[in-house]
Amino acid sequence: MGRLSPSGASLFSVFLWWSRERSPGQTLEKISYKVGYLVGSLSSTSINRLLAKALARLAPPELQLVEIPIKDLPLYSQDYDADYPPVARVFKQAIADCDAMLFVTPEYNRSIPGCLKNAIDWASRPWGQNSFARKPSGVIGTSSGVIGTAVAQSQLRGVLCFCNSPLTNNVEAYIQFKPGLITADGEVTDASTQEFLRNYMTELHAFIVRVLTVLPRTA
Ligand SMILES: Cc1cc2nc3c(=O)[nH]c(=O)nc-3n(C[C@H](O)[C@H](O)[C@H](O)COP(=O)(O)O)c2cc1C
Repeated sequence: MGRLSPSGASLFSVFLWWSRERSPGQTLEKISYKVGYLVGSLSSTSINRLLAKALARLAPPELQLVEIPIKDLPLYSQDYDADYPPVARVFKQAIADCDAMLFVTPEYNRSIPGCLKNAIDWASRPWGQNSFARKPSGVIGTSSGVIGTAVAQSQLRGVLCFCNSPLTNNVEAYIQFKPGLITADGEVTDASTQEFLRNYMTELHAFIVRVLTVLPRTA
């Protein structure tokens, strides 16, 4: 066997490093993703904000979760399209700065809370400047009711589909909230719910990687 040239030797050591570090399905680099989340509640005691806090704690380290506030947005009107007010510009820029979105929502009268729908309407306009286009997203929510926001989530999926946001299909998460389920710091007190939510975030991460690998944000 001939000797390796210096360049051959370094190629060989790169290969050794690659084969040690990389298992099937893994990328060489750990890429971080910024996930902006909207909470569909203006309540100061929102259980959905608690859920969002819990999800931030349980997320894989590659996901950085940041809340994008919606409470100061006025009611949307097409009259604003020619000149969005500063609060709406800041809101749209915050979404633009994120790689993906997470919607954490209550259900109001078997539908999407008005404040969340209003925020989505702001983000989707002006025409041609839809903030959600091709941005991957996940939907989740909690309520005291047994179906845990299933109807609101279903309707929200229709809206986000129209907004051209690639959506996670699996895992679906309809969380029935019981007093004490999540502490003020976002700690989940029930072990099986904690594991379920951790898995939800792991799946969300895998989905974001898949979508943005095929269709990078700059494409
Ligand atoms: C106007 C209104 C409508 C509601 N409608 C529903 C509903 O359709 N389904 C449900 O499970 N809970 C419903 N609830 C109860 C909410 O699940 C509960 O208030 C929950 O705390 C709201 O989430 P939040 O704390 O994050 O705001 C409703 C509450 C309000 C105030």
